[in-house]
Amino acid sequence: MLRDVKTLNQFIVERQADFEYAKGELSSLLSDIGTAVKIINREVNKAGLVNILGSAHEINVQGEEVKKLDMYANDMLIIALSSGEDCCVIASEENENIVEIPTQNNINPAKYVVVFDPLDGSSNIDVNASIGTIFAIYRRISEGDGPGTAEDCMQKGRNIVASGYVIYGSSTMLVYTTGNGVNGFTLDPSIGEFCLSHPKIKLPERGNIYSLNDANFSDFSEGLKRFVNYLKGDAKTEIGKFSARYIGTLVADIHRNLLKGGIFIYPDTAKAPQGKLRLIYENNPMAFLLEQANGKATDGHGVDILDIQPTDLHQRTPLFIGNKDLVDLAEEFIKKYG
Ligand code: AHG
Ligand code: MN
Ligand code: MN
Repeated sequence: MLRDVKTLNQFIVERQADFEYAKGELSSLLSDIGTAVKIINREVNKAGLVNILGSAHEINVQGEEVKKLDMYANDMLIIALSSGEDCCVIASEENENIVEIPTQNNINPAKYVVVFDPLDGSSNIDVNASIGTIFAIYRRISEGDGPGTAEDCMQKGRNIVASGYVIYGSSTMLVYTTGNGVNGFTLDPSIGEFCLSHPKIKLPERGNIYSLNDANFSDFSEGLKRFVNYLKGDAKTEIGKFSARYIGTLVADIHRNLLKGGIFIYPDTAKAPQGKLRLIYENNPMAFLLEQANGKATDGHGVDILDIQPTDLHQRTPLFIGNKDLVDLAEEFIKKYG
């Protein structure tokens, strides 16, 4: 029944009272992001047809230049956030430097900062596996009303005001938090609206899924190797043996674990001492959201992801994220065996 449907925008406005600072800016920022990802979703669904319409950097049958989906998603988010009046600066995986929002005579009184990975899981685009978008919103810390700064974008994850992700999968879902719990919305294409489908998401008490790229096993630390072998061996939980699941899209691996429980690991290795995943627009948004769902996210060495002070827009950190007991157990193995 229509009365049972709660759209994202209705929910955002309803929950506006939760935001101690925002009048309506944060609400309109979140709905701007909602609009942009609906447009991205439309393009994602066509991605399989790109070969018919012309692959990236070619001119398609409509005579338009077909963009790579990463760049298309990036452009859509920048356009949506620039046309609103609530964002003063952007940091994106696809832009080497910060993206200052164009303003009249260089004044931009907007109070919020948005960081994002516009298209997560690019390697899965052409094999039709789930891909995603990841975002986080901060309050600006720079003084004055000029455009925002790199310092605004390099705040600790603890300062996040809202974060979330979109998973373009068998259905398209937007999952986000403003620090008062995690809620999931499923896109109903027939009305073009994200509708509340997963209210108050919390990690299950116990998880028996571990998710990591096993091909890197030989590069893992001794402690991590022993942890993984433990999970593969006689580790037992009340819900049975462990299962290995790895999609290779952070958003999809995290979303599955958020709903079913488990641990996702992209560790530091000898070859990649900082791991692979980016702190500002992948690890922090996910860490903030998982903590809201009773989870935990660290670098595998006792440091909470949200407490790491960024020093570079694109810096990488190891990521151990999921059920607290599994993150703690992984750290115990690493502490004990190095
Ligand atoms: P992106 O497509 O934004 O670069 O992110 C890809 C990331 C992340 O989505 C995933 O968890 C990880 O790469 C997979 O890395 P491997 O292929 O090395 O396992
Ligand atoms: Mn990514
Ligand atoms: Mn990406």
